Amino acid sequence: MILVTGGAGFIGGNFVLDWLSVPSNEGVINLDKLTYAGNLATLASLKDDPHHIFVHGDIGDKELVAKLLKEHQPRAIVNFAAESHVDRSIHGSAEFVNTNIVGTFNLLECAREYWNELDGSAKKVFRFHHVSTDEVYGSLSATDSAFTETNSYEPNSPYSASKAASDHLVRAWFHTYGFPVVTTNCSNNYGPYHFPEKLIPLAILNALNGKPLPIYGDGQQIRDWLYVGDHCSAIREVLDKGKLGETYNIGGWNEKANIDVVKTICAILDELKPLADGKSYVDQITYVKDRPGHDRRYAIDASKLERELGWRPFETFDTGIRKTVKWYLDNPVWIEGVVSGSYRDWLSKQYN
Ligand code: NAD
Ligand code: TYD
Repeated sequence: MILVTGGAGFIGGNFVLDWLSVPSNEGVINLDKLTYAGNLATLASLKDDPHHIFVHGDIGDKELVAKLLKEHQPRAIVNFAAESHVDRSIHGSAEFVNTNIVGTFNLLECAREYWNELDGSAKKVFRFHHVSTDEVYGSLSATDSAFTETNSYEPNSPYSASKAASDHLVRAWFHTYGFPVVTTNCSNNYGPYHFPEKLIPLAILNALNGKPLPIYGDGQQIRDWLYVGDHCSAIREVLDKGKLGETYNIGGWNEKANIDVVKTICAILDELKPLADGKSYVDQITYVKDRPGHDRRYAIDASKLERELGWRPFETFDTGIRKTVKWYLDNPVWIEGVVSGSYRDWLSKQYN
């Protein structure tokens, strides 16, 4: 077995579906607290799959985590569980500290105790894979080189600060205890099952619902977009062949300004779902107040991963965004399920 945390969220859910689509892979114990971002509908196709054991719980729950490790004896842990939205971390950061820092600490400690008791090959092959973000490196200017694994940590938001702290804990557990870890820092993901509080799914759904497409500030902030399926394949490579104690950057080689991302979405929707009045979805674009502390540019240099493990992303932005828009058009039932009362409350808190 492998233990996946946060496997009902966007990336964790895609990872579990991907992993279990390969019949020779081990089963998955999926530990998820089911916060607003966790969604069992993403995992609906695994309902009767005996290789998937879903456990509703918190990575910060020591007794539960210790019990799961003892019972299922996983050969690896992949830690996706986190509070992940920058804007929410600005409104309130306590849960970011609780889950991203204290929760990761608890998971590390329980895993270390479990690993200490293993012997022989089980001890040798065990690894703890921590999933993190490029946001820990801070913000780049237009002319700076892309982030490499040796960039210093300069987080600017409560979210990125909490992820930076968790990365430091993971690193320290390796250097102090010899605990077998690998960390990956990836750029902005997009793709199916993405909760529509983040830019791309929000823009798609707002466009379809005739609502404003909110662009923070001047819309010239740059993100390096990584298709979620490519992220999953990179994690599989690192889990399989990554060197213990190392960190690997994962990026899509797709730097785009926010305004261009939203205009691309509009153009695809104009083609696939034209408005009855012949207008373009672009007309719904609305510039709104900027996010405080908004990082100007992220860009990942993923050449270490290519050089050492032979990984490159499969999707270009053009292919990935088209697949993504089509997925949202084809999956109204999943969308219905996430656009609940609490989601509407978030929209009015953030955008009014
Ligand atoms: P998400 O918010 O969609 O999902 C997070 C999942 O974790 C949810 O299912 C939630 O219920 C679960 N969770 C939250 N707190 C928990 C706890 N205490 N115990 C157990 N489960 C808990 O996030 P995501 O976008 O899928 O991100 C996954 C990981 O990747 C995170 O660690 C995030 O920091 C990192 N990351 C994400 C992106 C991105 O673009 N989405 C980019 C870089 C890194
Ligand atoms: P987001 O998807 O929240 O990811 P992150 O903050 O982790 O990069 O935002 C991506 C970019 O889009 C970021 O520069 C903020 C911007 N953005 C908007 O312009 N409007 C929005 O409504 C949202 C949610 C984000």
